Amino acid sequence: MAVGVFDSGLGGLTVLAALQDRLPQVPFVYLGDNANTPYGVRTPDDIYTLTCAGVERLWAAGCDLVILACNTASAAALKRMQETWIPADKRVLGVFVPLIEALTERQWGDNSPPREVAVKHVALFATPATVASRAFQRELAFRAIGVDVEAQPCGGVVDAIEAGDEILAEALVKSHVEALMRRMPAPEAAILGCTHYPLLEAVFQKALGPEVAVFSQPRLVAAALDDYLARRPEFLGAGQMTQYLTTGDPESVSAHATQFLRRGVRFTSA
Ligand code: DGL
Repeated sequence: MAVGVFDSGLGGLTVLAALQDRLPQVPFVYLGDNANTPYGVRTPDDIYTLTCAGVERLWAAGCDLVILACNTASAAALKRMQETWIPADKRVLGVFVPLIEALTERQWGDNSPPREVAVKHVALFATPATVASRAFQRELAFRAIGVDVEAQPCGGVVDAIEAGDEILAEALVKSHVEALMRRMPAPEAAILGCTHYPLLEAVFQKALGPEVAVFSQPRLVAAALDDYLARRPEFLGAGQMTQYLTTGDPESVSAHATQFLRRGVRFTSA
């Protein structure tokens, strides 16, 4: 009854940890495409091809339902996959919508017209590909009006995390936050729109200041999956074991995952 979790690299582990907390009875198969990370500087076609390959690997591991724990893949590839590629007996879900539902204070499945919401100034931190897709703004416009979104493409942060360079990653986060705040000095909310960024959530919060509400995805995605599986238990696949798979070098991926999560994680080759 396993569920698949896919990311370009280590970032999806932040989502996986919340999924494991919320659904301890469910085995999860994690796949990091560390050989091809980062996705955030790739073209939409490239991201689509790589994401489909990763999802097929998870289907082969007995996961009929796959969570794209990657905003870049969710923004650049998921719509095309759902419209043209995913067979009827499989499901692939992204990480964007639960976040926007929380920001706009909507219940699951509320399809009423867009309305005014409490937050008016939102800072979005994401990869260059996610920012370029404007997928966040598009999903937000279905649900809310009058929200000003200022987006900061955070070049280099994912590379620094994947390379295990915490000092560089922190310095880059501070400079991206400063750059955004020059354009939007007083955001009410900030979205960490890349699953790698919760690994540096405290750095974002410190740079933004205590009055900015930071929305981070893992917990929200876990609540959404719990709700989904209660309604569609048939999408729990045949897989039985929790596994951590990588397309990269299992030794160095395991070491960097352990460093950032501050607990032991052992990857094997995908
Ligand atoms: N963790 C992915 C995301 O949420 C990452 C990015 C990348 O590979 O650039 O966007």
